[in-house]
Amino acid sequence: MSAAAAPGAAASRWRDVTAPVLALGTYLRTQRRLFAEVVVVVWAALVTGVAVAVLSVRAATTVAVGDPAGLAMLALGVAVVAVGVLAWTEQWLAHVLAYRVIDSVRQHVHAAIARLAPLGLGRRRSGETVAAAMTDAEQLEWFYAHTAAQVVAGGGAALTVSAGAVAWLGPVGLVVPAAQLLVLAVPVLALPVASRQGTALRAEVAALASTVMEARSAARETVLLGRVPAVVAAVRAGTARVQRVRRGLAVRTGVEQAALEGVGAAAVLGTLALAVDGAVPAASVPAAVALAGAGLAPALAVVAGLQRLGETSAAAARVAALLRSPGARPADGPHADLAGSSDERGALQVRGLRVTYPGTDHAVLDGVDLDVRPGEHVAVVGASGAGKSTLALVLARLVGHEAGEVHVDGVRVADEPGARTRERVVLVGQHAHVFRASVRANLLAPDADDAALWRALEGAHLADRVRALPEGLDTVLAERGAAWSGGERQRLGLARGLLRDPSVLVLDEPTAGLDTRTEAAFLATLRAARRGRTTVVVTHRPAVVRACDRVVLLDGGRVVADGTHDSLVPGCARYREVLATPAGPGPDEHREEVTNHG
Ligand SMILES: Nc1ncnc2c1ncn2[C@@H]1O[C@H](COP(=O)(O)OP(=O)(O)O)[C@@H](O)[C@H]1O
Ligand SMILES: [Mg+2]
Repeated sequence: MSAAAAPGAAASRWRDVTAPVLALGTYLRTQRRLFAEVVVVVWAALVTGVAVAVLSVRAATTVAVGDPAGLAMLALGVAVVAVGVLAWTEQWLAHVLAYRVIDSVRQHVHAAIARLAPLGLGRRRSGETVAAAMTDAEQLEWFYAHTAAQVVAGGGAALTVSAGAVAWLGPVGLVVPAAQLLVLAVPVLALPVASRQGTALRAEVAALASTVMEARSAARETVLLGRVPAVVAAVRAGTARVQRVRRGLAVRTGVEQAALEGVGAAAVLGTLALAVDGAVPAASVPAAVALAGAGLAPALAVVAGLQRLGETSAAAARVAALLRSPGARPADGPHADLAGSSDERGALQVRGLRVTYPGTDHAVLDGVDLDVRPGEHVAVVGASGAGKSTLALVLARLVGHEAGEVHVDGVRVADEPGARTRERVVLVGQHAHVFRASVRANLLAPDADDAALWRALEGAHLADRVRALPEGLDTVLAERGAAWSGGERQRLGLARGLLRDPSVLVLDEPTAGLDTRTEAAFLATLRAARRGRTTVVVTHRPAVVRACDRVVLLDGGRVVADGTHDSLVPGCARYREVLATPAGPGPDEHREEVTNHG
């Protein structure tokens, strides 16, 4: 790099580092007043701190030469009390500011997570997301509450003290601003290194969080497959990487500290050398020297903030990246009230549906057509990977479609917010999440009374299980339902769905993992649960299919067969293959695709 390019590069580096911090300064904007109060208090505390140092030396010299020291002692006393009060006020206000800022940052991060779920989050390691929501946000909180105000106030106090020094000491007082400029040059010169180290530190901390979280979620597989030593080694390696970066950081701040101390010593010695030449009255020399030393405190406060700038900037950039990631779900439609007519409740129409997952180049669903009458019970079957779960996710509007139309209850869903559709379409997935909370809280219906909760539990065949728990509805369940079987968790999901009383209930493989006896019980449950509503059941189990009015076969991204189980078994080879059902008596391949949508 040529020497001429260097200042330009340094300037752009400076911009790169400050831009993310300033961009996230929006969180401070709502707290402008409080921020200003903190700045004023910090400024006053810094200036009074310098005054205490000067006044104490002044009082001591007055006493030493035998002059009356009453006034000096009084001024010192007032200043000392003021420093204490200001320090206390600063702590108080700064923490109020800190909690308000972090609250706002976390709410925005959470809103971004909700916007990105489930597709946009799949691409990130969950530890990365958690790091952005927790440690990066904390880093920002620290910065905005304890650094930004200090940098602004420190700059102001440095100017105040410099002006005071020059006014009092004349040209000798110029040592103070000169030393302050030198002090400020230290972190500015170190900025490129600091910014590199900050980025590396945030990245390594997030990577370590991801590794630890993954180790926790995969604990079972890890033990089963004898991977414990490998996981321990990975955590250890991650920790070592964080430590290495931290060591580099400590070395840098140590070098900076030494430079700062050097400037402080030079300021004291310089003032002494100039002052004893007669430029300052002899009686004032000790106080002038004290001012040269203590006068650096405001600049040092700025330095302390700038030293964290690299790390803060990296944290801000990571949070901003999460906040700015494009929504994985399509933008919501207008908030119009689009109630379909009541005789359309439970009607479902899908026309020419095409879905391509982001980052892939072929459509998972391509031209799906499906008509379900109100109150009808339809099974969706298809080979693994045929797009059944994708169809279910589209109906619940967790995945958007690039072409085609979906109508629920006679309303075109693209015309309404996803949340509105989800009031009418409930998807009970394969893996209901169990929260570490009571059964009552796990039903996720805070407004439902106990009678309604029990009705839903009865409907989901879970009431006996809950009655047997030590504290019934109030029993706290283990995180992720560690003590509950897969089938029980699925039934919890169904109970949640029933409580919402949707017009369309979509169940994705509700009996996967159940034995045939439990499956039979579940089907009885389902028959009760589906009364008065439409159900769409994704399944590959013949018993479930037989319990439905109709079955559609998804293959190659579209519906290739549509009919009753009894008509498809003899009529459709692909259907038999997918269900692994032997042909009934008299197979007749000519009747393949009883209703062909292709
Ligand atoms: N989030 C995703 N991103 C990219 N591809 C996906 C995603 N989810 C599913 N797919 C792919 O889409 C296809 C259909 O998946 P899915 O709907 O889950 O099938 P099914 O439920 O019928 O087994 C599969 O090939 C799967 O790999
Ligand atoms: Mg599936």
